[in-house]
Formats: sequence, C-alpha cells, structure tokens
Amino acid sequence: MSNKQIITIAGGGSGYTPGIVLTLLNHEDFAVKELRLYDDDPIKNEKMGIIIDHILEKGHYEVEFKRTEDPEEAFTGADFIFSQIRVGKMEMREKDEKIPLKHGIVGQETCGLGGFSYGMRSMKGFLELVGHIQEYAPEAWILNYTNPETIVAEAIRREYPQAKIINACDMTIGIEEIIADSFGFDRSNWLPVYYGLNHFGWYDSIYDVSLGRDLMPEILEKIKTIGVDVSKEEASWAQTYENMQVIIEHFPTHIPNNYLEYYLYPNLVVEQTDPAYTRANQIMEGRLQKIEDTVAQIKNNEATDLEYESSGHGQYIVDIAASILHNKNDRFMLIVPNKGAIPNLRADAVVEVPSYVNARGVEPISLRFDIPDFHKGLMEAQVASEKLLVDAFFENSYQKALEAFTLNQTVPNATVAQKVLDDFIEANGDYWPELS
Ligand code: G6P
Ligand code: MN
Repeated sequence: MSNKQIITIAGGGSGYTPGIVLTLLNHEDFAVKELRLYDDDPIKNEKMGIIIDHILEKGHYEVEFKRTEDPEEAFTGADFIFSQIRVGKMEMREKDEKIPLKHGIVGQETCGLGGFSYGMRSMKGFLELVGHIQEYAPEAWILNYTNPETIVAEAIRREYPQAKIINACDMTIGIEEIIADSFGFDRSNWLPVYYGLNHFGWYDSIYDVSLGRDLMPEILEKIKTIGVDVSKEEASWAQTYENMQVIIEHFPTHIPNNYLEYYLYPNLVVEQTDPAYTRANQIMEGRLQKIEDTVAQIKNNEATDLEYESSGHGQYIVDIAASILHNKNDRFMLIVPNKGAIPNLRADAVVEVPSYVNARGVEPISLRFDIPDFHKGLMEAQVASEKLLVDAFFENSYQKALEAFTLNQTVPNATVAQKVLDDFIEANGDYWPELS
C-alpha cells in the first residue's frame, strides 16, 4: 500500500504499547512508514524500545523506528499521534484509588474523586503535549485516549480549540463485545445508539441490521436473568459486569455503562474493594511486571515466553485512523462537544455519542430525541462538577475545586469532599497546579 504513515505514540513507555504497535503493523488498511515512541521517562521509553525492536525484527517488518524524549523529534512530520500518557504513572494511580477509600468513598482512576485527582495531573501534562504538537505538527491528527477523557477534552477545547483531536474510549466496544459474545450475537451487524459522558452513559437501542430489530429489550432481559458471561474477564472487570446486572435489576429501561456502578452504587463498590490492594496494584504486578520480564528475556537472548498479541485496545484507535485516511465513514462512539447532539442537555457539555469518521474528522449524530430526566439529571451534575474542576485548574481556585469535589455524586457531604481534596493536594505536589 502506498501512502505510508508516520505514527508517534505519546506515552510510548505504556504497557499498552506492544498491543497497539502490533495492531498498527498488521492492520489491513494501514501502512506504517515510521514509528516513533515518545515518552518523558527515558527509562520506560528505552525498555519499551527494546520490546518494539524485538517485535519488528522477529516479524521482519520494514518500518523505521525511533524512540525519543524530544518533542520536536517526536512530532515533526508525524501524520497521526496516538496519545495515552499517564501523568504520575501507576504510583499516582494507586494514590488516586486509595486516598478516597481511606475516607470511605469510591477510589477509582477515572470516576469519582480519584478521577479528579488524575484529571488535574492529566490536564497539566496533556496541555503541554498538545502545545508541542501545535508547534511541531499542527496538521497531524491526535487520537487521544488519555484519561479522564471528558476532563482533558474540556481543557483542550478551552486552550486549543483549533487542535485536530479525536477523543475516543474503548469502553462501549468492550461492553458490546461481551454482550454479543455472551448471547450469541454478531456485533458487526449492530447500529447502537448510546449517549452520555465518557464512562457515564446508556444505550437507548441496539438495532441489528441483519435481524431487522432492536435487540435492547431482549438483551436487558438476558442480563437481568442470566447476566453476561464473565468467565474470560479478570476478577475486577468481572465484578463491574456483575454490578451492571444490579443496576439493570433496579433501573431496567436502558443498558448502562458498567462504570455507572460508581455513581449509582458507590456503597456496594466500596464494600467490594480492598483498600490495601487496588487495581493499580494488580496492574503493577501484572502488566508492568510482564514488561520488565520481557525486556530481561530479550537482553539475555532467551526466548520470550510472553508473546504479545494485537490488542482490542489498539484496534479501535487504528480503525479510527484508517477511517480518516481512507474516508471510510465508519461509526464509533466518540467524545465530542454536545452542541445539540443530545438536544435537551447543555450545549457546552462534552458528550459521548455515535459519530462517523471520515477525511474531515468526526461527524457526530444528533439523537433527535430528549433523554429521560433521570439520566439528564445525573449527567448535569457530573458535567457541572467536571467543568468546575477544569475552572479550578485554569483559575488556580481552591474554591472551585472544593465545589467540584462536593458536587461529585460519589461524595456524601462537603466535609468529606474537603478532606479528600486536602489529601490530594498534598499527595500530588507539583503534579497539580497551585490552588489558593
Ligand atoms: C477501560 C477504560 C479506560 C481505562 C481502562 C483501565 O479500557 O475505557 O479508559 O483506562 O479501562 O484498564 P486497566 O486495565 O488499566 O484497569
Ligand atoms: Mn475509557
């Protein structure tokens, strides 16, 4: 294939990188001329570079490859930039999860107050990254899956409204795949309608083109009575799908994003969480340890017993890039400024809705119906709390941060909000802007 692309992965040292690279290299609609790993942590970047070199050599891929910590070198001439940076790494994720739990409330990386702690760090790091990209590659497409996505998308919209950025999350794909696999459907025939904020939404319908009907009523009934098949899931993910069944039992009209467990049943989630061993601990001992082991094996010329495979995580992001490149108009759930897509929700919210992707970028659909008050009310509180956090960031305002924390629906009262806020200010140090 001609028209070979230059790709930069920002946050190249991440444990997701090998899967994304393999997806890129093997994608039928995508040809890579040059691959660059960019990370501000030279040690992590070097280790990942060893793994990627090994993958390229073993597979005899003819791709130029470099890793760099210099933004000019990373971005100049790039066609697509995939961003998955995690400011503060797993060590800070662990704090995001454990500090709220210490106060008896939800501790999660993107939802609740852990998500706000991460959001403050992420805005700082991601704005800097997008600033570099605007300087060295303003025409490049930024495909972003840096979390927490609604918060960083809102910050970028305010600071760099001209940026060519697409914000995407794999959560809806994960939900649809597990439902389709559990109940014997083929997801490639689906035209689902979903609306919400990132990690905070509902399916309105799941129309199956080949069957000619909306599958949602029967799927809801199946989830309620049998539950989805979690046998292939890690324990912590299995739990969120089991909690999805709890949500549907009490709110049976729509299929929820499983992350709504944090806002609807925070009590249940806290009960189910070990405050001394959270998801960050699992990742550090699993995915991150695997990188260390693989690097050691490659250096010792040992056969790597850990074969990396193309990842689902990488698949959707490369599919989006291919849809831009070949003007394919494929449909994805994407995170976009509302502007009427959800007619009865404030226009300046950042929402997640079905969107078509082509050479011009993202074309979101308008739902053309009003969402129910229950969902609208939950979303409005969430939008306001996230916007207050972004205000706090740009205005260096402790007051706005306290309002954001208090309004978050995982928080029982302002006293708890303030305690967690003060703990996070201390734990984050220079990762956060100064608040006064
Ligand atoms: C899903 C979400 C991502 C999130 C990830 C965490 O894929 O969409 O936004 O980062 O889960 O997965 P992990 O394995 O790191 O807990
Ligand atoms: Mn996500």
